[in-house]
Amino acid sequence: MLTITFYGHACFALTDGETKLLIDPFFTGNGLAPIKAEEAEADYILVTHGHGDHTGDAASIAERTGATIITTVDVGTALFGNCRNLICGNIGGKIQLPFGSIQYVPAIHGSGVPGGVACGFVIRMDGKTVYHMGDTSLTKDFELLADQIDALLIPIGDFYTMGPEDALTAVEMIRPGYVIPMHFNTFPMIMQDADSFARSVEEKDFQAQVLNPGEFLVLV
Ligand code: NI
Ligand code: MN
Repeated sequence: MLTITFYGHACFALTDGETKLLIDPFFTGNGLAPIKAEEAEADYILVTHGHGDHTGDAASIAERTGATIITTVDVGTALFGNCRNLICGNIGGKIQLPFGSIQYVPAIHGSGVPGGVACGFVIRMDGKTVYHMGDTSLTKDFELLADQIDALLIPIGDFYTMGPEDALTAVEMIRPGYVIPMHFNTFPMIMQDADSFARSVEEKDFQAQVLNPGEFLVLV
């Protein structure tokens, strides 16, 4: 049983009941976050790229909890060099961990770090595969992950990432079990109607789940 909890923006927690992963832990300054950074728990903290709405509170949560930060070499070196526990892989690489594995996949986006690249994560945990796309444009590369994804965490905000129309195309390419929209309504530039997006996904015969911040989905 894998539980996916949404904390607003691109921040999610994944847990199999033993290990807890926190992705893009943006609490401080995130008006939609249902908890404070001080309340967040994690064994691993995954950071897709160096922009502040994704690095968020990673360093302070790692310091308090002892969690291991997992990010790219560029972001890790530039922003988390002082963190006690740090794993820096890179695009294409897969890392094996006691609970499962995490593969770095391309995201078409910047990183706020000189020369840095952004990534998404394909997370295999508890027999399920979850793809957190990070901030990304639409790209044909998504087809490489077709029919492999149980839950797709997909940006729909537009302006900085895919908007709803491109996100729907991405869903048709990936054909995931569940579609969970993210990266919307946090800022004025990325206001979107997630329910309308979810209906468009369902019209294509895929399952969508709009999570309000604090809500979760259980994959069994
Ligand atoms: Ni970004
Ligand atoms: Mn972002």
